[in-house]
Amino acid sequence: MTVPRRLEGKVAVVTGGASGIGAGIVRRLVAEGSRCVVSDVQEGPGRALVAELGDATVYQQCDVTREDEVAALVDTAVDRFGRLDAAFNNAGIVGVVGPFAATSLADWERTMGVLLTSVFLGTKHAGRVMLPQGSGSIVNTASSAGVQAGLGPHAYTTAKHAVVGLTKSAAVEYAASGVRVNALAPGATVSAMTAAVITGDARSLEETERYLAQASPGGRAGGPDDIAAAAAFLASDESWYVNGHCLVVDGTREVLSDRSRKYWAARDDQG
Ligand SMILES: NC(=O)c1ccc[n+]([C@@H]2O[C@H](COP(=O)([O-])OP(=O)(O)OC[C@H]3O[C@@H](n4cnc5c(N)ncnc54)[C@H](O)[C@@H]3O)[C@@H](O)[C@H]2O)c1
Repeated sequence: MTVPRRLEGKVAVVTGGASGIGAGIVRRLVAEGSRCVVSDVQEGPGRALVAELGDATVYQQCDVTREDEVAALVDTAVDRFGRLDAAFNNAGIVGVVGPFAATSLADWERTMGVLLTSVFLGTKHAGRVMLPQGSGSIVNTASSAGVQAGLGPHAYTTAKHAVVGLTKSAAVEYAASGVRVNALAPGATVSAMTAAVITGDARSLEETERYLAQASPGGRAGGPDDIAAAAAFLASDESWYVNGHCLVVDGTREVLSDRSRKYWAARDDQG
């Protein structure tokens, strides 16, 4: 498939860019002409991706729960590439699993830190550069679990719903300055995260793909490239009239949600 060159001259940052959906977004951005700061807490895979993609990319270590590191990530884009046009607040974990009664405050707060506070920090610091510039696109990775309950654990569902709310609220503030803020809500997508949940082994991507394909009425599993195509659209000027929106990219939610509800109910019963 020929990829359009909609992002020529643009500069992006991607958190959680070393793996799965984030790595897919990085590849797609570069294919469309963007330069990109790849960031993660997994330095090895992050640097390997940058080595593969070449001069259009640079790696910056960034734990998204730390404000100083998120601020430094945004500064790296400006220092290395001169500007910041797109920020993907994408890093994530499954987080704490189980019934509310068995969930400790520490685990709840750790999950919120990675999935929600990180998006606040990314939106704040991307805005620091984009608002004076008068342009930019911020894309926050939510989830189909951010628009519907029963698709994931309690803390994950709560955080992802909040990401959608944060996105809308930020869009209201930033719109007047020419900066758009949207959310992307993937459904079940083949990645290390889903592999760990479905098979117990984060490396079992092929088995995960087979499992998700079976659950899909089209017989095909969604992968990082499928999410990245939507992500690139939200970063591009083609989506200039899309703001404060949550774009669900999930194949067919109805069928998958029924299976997912049963899956998480069983996990919750196990505690
Ligand atoms: N795969 C799915 O089915 C699916 C569905 C909906 C939403 N999502 C969301 O997509 C995003 C990417 O997930 P994925 O499926 O690609 O999983 P993944 O595990 O392949 O990638 C997540 C990346 O985030 C990084 N990360 C974790 N904690 C971090 C931290 N504190 N600071 C910086 N980086 C950190 C990990 O190292 C990893 O590289 C997540 O926000 C996830 O919740 C995934």
